[in-house]
Amino acid sequence: MEKNGNNVIELDDLRVHYRIGGGLFSEAKWVKAVDGVTLEIKKGETLGLVGESGCGKSTLGKAILRLTEPTGGRVLYQGSDLSVLSQSAMRDQRRNLQMIFQDPYASLNPRMNVGQIIGEPIRTYGLANGKSVDERVQELMETVGLNRRFVKRYPHEFSGGQRQRIGIARALAVDPEFIVADEPISALDVSIQAQIMNLMERLQAEKSLTYLFISHDLRAVRHLSDRVAVMYLGKIVELAPGKDVYADPLMPYTRALISAVPVPDPEIEATRERIILKGDVPSPINPPAGCHFHTRCPYAIAECSQRVPQLVEIKPNHRAACIRINAENPNIDANAAAGLGAVGD
Ligand SMILES: Nc1ncnc2c1ncn2[C@@H]1O[C@H](COP(=O)(O)OP(=O)(O)O)[C@@H](O)[C@H]1O
Ligand code: SF4
Ligand SMILES: [Mg+2]
Repeated sequence: MEKNGNNVIELDDLRVHYRIGGGLFSEAKWVKAVDGVTLEIKKGETLGLVGESGCGKSTLGKAILRLTEPTGGRVLYQGSDLSVLSQSAMRDQRRNLQMIFQDPYASLNPRMNVGQIIGEPIRTYGLANGKSVDERVQELMETVGLNRRFVKRYPHEFSGGQRQRIGIARALAVDPEFIVADEPISALDVSIQAQIMNLMERLQAEKSLTYLFISHDLRAVRHLSDRVAVMYLGKIVELAPGKDVYADPLMPYTRALISAVPVPDPEIEATRERIILKGDVPSPINPPAGCHFHTRCPYAIAECSQRVPQLVEIKPNHRAACIRINAENPNIDANAAAGLGAVGD
């Protein structure tokens, strides 16, 4: 992979396979949660990561931070390989790489008050001591829109939105460069979601943060993301600037995801074309051969179950993984109408 100073994170054929079972009487099986992901996250951008539940988004986010150990491939941070670091060297690096979780309640220690929760990483990394920790905590509380008088309160005394603000303040406490936000608004009321998105946007601008924003909610991703990566059963199947993914989706899977989002205008909603996906996401234990999507794809042909499509540039800055499209023939509807099977190589 070409080295590029503008990339904060580069993933090179990253894999996370979970071993399940495998005892005296049963053979081990492997869940291929992340199965060969290559992409880059540019400095200051928000890369949205979308896909149905179970397709490997959280595992990918955690693997970047080595909260889950990759099985193969590499994660480069600022050009240097994180996978070769010792556990303690990785802990040091984690100062720069933080995570915000879907359920802040589960990720905040219920027996610690807000001051302790936000102060802990500051102390752990020796970023301040004594009174200056308290000052830093209160500054952070104000930054994320929490009243500094609440510093002695416990997580259960806050609303869901406020708890997410605490989670964000804790992530910010170490002045990170890159944040994985894993469904940060999915557990919140709709009215609160916009507030948290606005907060994340403002913080990104103020602190030149780089985000991987994981969500199954395409509207949220559209609002926040510069580029969008679409994931299906462990693989990225489409990657492009957000506006191109929504205005000109190349992959049948992406189109189906977009068409599942209701349109607020009832007239358009009643008449628009919808692609309904057949069935659920297949098991990642024995994913369908060839293109993993072939069991649900309305455009599938026999070859789709034999050939693994590669993620390649089809249009400028627009990558997709489908054997029925290429740069000369980017439109799958036109190709299907013309009776084209697999195109080029
Ligand atoms: N610790 C684990 N052990 C075994 N399988 C796991 C583990 N974590 C996740 N999985 C499986 O890996 C797949 C991807 O999970 P996940 O990354 O959580 O997907 P998503 O975040 O897109 O919903 C799922 O099939 C899930 O059941
Ligand atoms: S490779 Fe085949 S199954 Fe996969 S998205 Fe393209 S047409 Fe559908
Ligand atoms: Mg998840």
